[in-house]
Amino acid sequence: MAILVTGGAGYIGSHTCVELLNAGYKVIVVDNLSNSCETSLARVQEITGKELEFFKVDLLDKEALNFVFGKYDIEAVIHFAGLKAVGESCEIPLKYYQNNITGTLNLCEIMKKHEVKNLVFSSSATVYGEPKSVPVYEDFPLSATNPYGRSKLFIEEILQDLYKSDSSWNIALLRYFNPIGSHESGKIGEDPNGIPNNLLPFVAQVAVGKRAELSVFGDDYNTKDGTGIRDYIHVVDLSIGHLKAIKKLNSNPGIVAYNLGTGNGYSVFEIIEAYKKASQKEIPFKIIERRAGDIAISFANAEKAFNELDWKAERGIEEMCKDSWKWQSENPNGYDKS
Ligand code: NAD
Ligand code: UFG
Repeated sequence: MAILVTGGAGYIGSHTCVELLNAGYKVIVVDNLSNSCETSLARVQEITGKELEFFKVDLLDKEALNFVFGKYDIEAVIHFAGLKAVGESCEIPLKYYQNNITGTLNLCEIMKKHEVKNLVFSSSATVYGEPKSVPVYEDFPLSATNPYGRSKLFIEEILQDLYKSDSSWNIALLRYFNPIGSHESGKIGEDPNGIPNNLLPFVAQVAVGKRAELSVFGDDYNTKDGTGIRDYIHVVDLSIGHLKAIKKLNSNPGIVAYNLGTGNGYSVFEIIEAYKKASQKEIPFKIIERRAGDIAISFANAEKAFNELDWKAERGIEEMCKDSWKWQSENPNGYDKS
């Protein structure tokens, strides 16, 4: 039996492929490489000493997807493929809805046709909108503040409807908090195109000298030091959560949602300090105005995943920054896609 991984060449997907291969699964990756390159998969095979199958397929191409499903005996699908830049989603919302929602509809249709009904979906803490309090629990009200977040929320609702119509589906909605870090080998990592939107890749590029300074988006939030607080989670811990979710689906739980976070919140200033320590580099920064749409504070209650998946994040902020720095310093130009 094989696990099909959509978006497996991307940041979280490539790390999850490592864990799947190490656990003995056969892995089939489909990815259109719109935000990744095949080098990540070559590195996954180098790290594990095992092979995976790769198909350059766009989820909008149902025929190509159907071909892959016809070729293998697939036990479950982990669905990472999607566009994820919040700012871009406000500029080109139709593309985001088309790619993320239509892509997921196509995938579910083909899964149904081939009687593959176990699905792990990459959702996001963004589906909690501006949470009324912290920590955030899975039963908090859901809302969206931008087209990217809305695509995640819609997909969660579509998957709920799918389950209601046919209870032989088993679906895990994994709501990630803020994934950072890299595999300890430093061979795979986050490789954003252009100017990074997220804090960690930006900090890493400042530390390595690719960017002059970090802009801190506001120091007047109602938090311990005025900067935004998030629940950063090591990407390897996050990846392991997917293996636990696949095991859970085998017990026929129906549709279930889990927060994948550490339960700890760190401020932007604390991240700068931790990264300085890990890299032994200066991180020059300036304070600018708040970024539109940002919330002050978000961190998870991750007890449900602990109780039901037997999963808990093991790696702390030092390890996250150390592993991020190993990737960034050994691959200053990422996978060098040029
Ligand atoms: P990523 O961009 O590195 O990986 C996504 C992969 O999907 C890329 O390799 C891309 O080429 C591929 N892809 C996109 N559209 C496709 C399509 N139509 N057909 C085939 N392949 C397609 O992103 P990531 O950080 O690894 O995120 C993976 C998933 O997790 C995404 O769905 C994202 O929304 C979600 N998520 C990410 C974060 C985060 O901070 N990184 C947080 C919460 C949720
Ligand atoms: N920040 C800066 N400067 C930067 C980038 C970020 O100060 O250059 C601050 C932000 O204001 C925020 C914190 O750093 O306080 C984290 O910002 P990120 O952009 O790294 O992460 P977000 O929590 O805003 O959003 C991310 C993803 C979303 C996802 C969400 C929850 O971008 O898609 O995590 O998983 F939904």
